[in-house]
Amino acid sequence: MQIIDGKATSLAIQDEIKEEVQRRVADGAKKPHLAAIIVGDNPASRAYVGHKIKACERVGFDSTLVELSENILEEQLLDEVQALNEDPAIDGFIVQLPLPDQIDAQRVLEAVLPSKDVDGFHPINAGNLSLGLPGFQPATPAGIIELLKRYSIETSGKHAVILGRSAIVGTPMTLLLSRNANPGNCTVTMCHSRTQNLDEITRSADILVAAIGRPHFVTPDMVKPGAVVIDVGINRIPDATKKSGTRLTGDVDAEGLSDVDGHITPVPGGVGPMTIAMLLKNTLDAAAQS
Ligand code: GUN
Repeated sequence: MQIIDGKATSLAIQDEIKEEVQRRVADGAKKPHLAAIIVGDNPASRAYVGHKIKACERVGFDSTLVELSENILEEQLLDEVQALNEDPAIDGFIVQLPLPDQIDAQRVLEAVLPSKDVDGFHPINAGNLSLGLPGFQPATPAGIIELLKRYSIETSGKHAVILGRSAIVGTPMTLLLSRNANPGNCTVTMCHSRTQNLDEITRSADILVAAIGRPHFVTPDMVKPGAVVIDVGINRIPDATKKSGTRLTGDVDAEGLSDVDGHITPVPGGVGPMTIAMLLKNTLDAAAQS
């Protein structure tokens, strides 16, 4: 398999964004400003948000991290969202998911002003995406589209198989790959936990996107030689050879596929860094519109 280097691509996009920020600031504009709300201390969420804030520094954005207690009430969190909605200094913000059980996450996402919703999770932005109208696209599927574009991978007329139907990845990925656009124009099959004959379907995929959150779910016998395999999984599994006792791995058995012809995104260093690049791009766009 040839590696699709998401880390290098993300850094290249960040360089482009940094140059654009410098141009705008030289023209008298203020720096774009991203805020992130994090609730509680889930270590994975903390790490993801930390990467996002660090990336802001790299491209010359201002950033604000709003850290809230695990025990916060829904109404208090809604007040924090409202404060960011009303703050003219903030161009865009995200509420890191998952949220604790006492909070209705959907209600919180719907409280975010669509024009500041740089995660693209508000129903207005999700609806615009489904209708092919302009709006913020969720960063992970947008990052996958950007990788396909920058690696000049032909998608038109190809069979794309999406494993997973989440609102964050599977559903928007299905929409983006089936659009009349380039990349796009795929015939898309969306698979989920009730799909029958899954192996048969995945074996017919020219492009296979795995977004189910189960380590090494996609085995070599499920992949057609020559396929482009996009691994969205970020799973922590035991590994006695590591100091931490664990390591990150994807939804795909990448090692088993190493001798198969085709392309693959590694974990880590594939889709993850692209999510950050596209979040920054959305924030850059939000700042231009404000
Ligand atoms: N949790 C997992 N992925 C994401 C993401 O892209 N945005 C937010 N806000 N939370 C997440």
